[in-house]
Amino acid sequence: MKKILIASDHGGFHLKQFLITELKKENYTIEDLGTDNLDSCDYPDYAKKLVLELKKDTQNTLGILVCGTGIGMSMAANRDADIFAAICTNEFMASLTRKHNNANILCLGERVLGTELALNITKTFLNTEFEAGRHSKRLALFS
Ligand code: RB5
Repeated sequence: MKKILIASDHGGFHLKQFLITELKKENYTIEDLGTDNLDSCDYPDYAKKLVLELKKDTQNTLGILVCGTGIGMSMAANRDADIFAAICTNEFMASLTRKHNNANILCLGERVLGTELALNITKTFLNTEFEAGRHSKRLALFS
């Protein structure tokens, strides 16, 4: 089971806390990189923090970033060659972004998703493997 890193800004704080509670029940090892409260903060700081941590072991780690929409986090995270951050609003996207894009960070929007849908998207993302094959060649074309 891969280690999970999670971070949010204030706009994603409640959903982050909910996901941590639920994923712990499923025995995931989950590291919370903040934010720790609802004080206004800057989502790129948390995206960068998680990316730096994830890059230490991309083989055995996946990330979850939560903000109000998921958009800012995905933009901020996708600035490194090792990072494939995907914003998902349904389980189909979560499944395909693992199978085809080998996404290693899931971006979620607290102001977009209900908690149960967000949890189902997260479980789908964490439980789906990259299919490699023709998709590996396409990912290599990114650089
Ligand atoms: C914070 O108000 C909000 O802008 C942020 O959480 C996020 O939605 C940005 O993309």
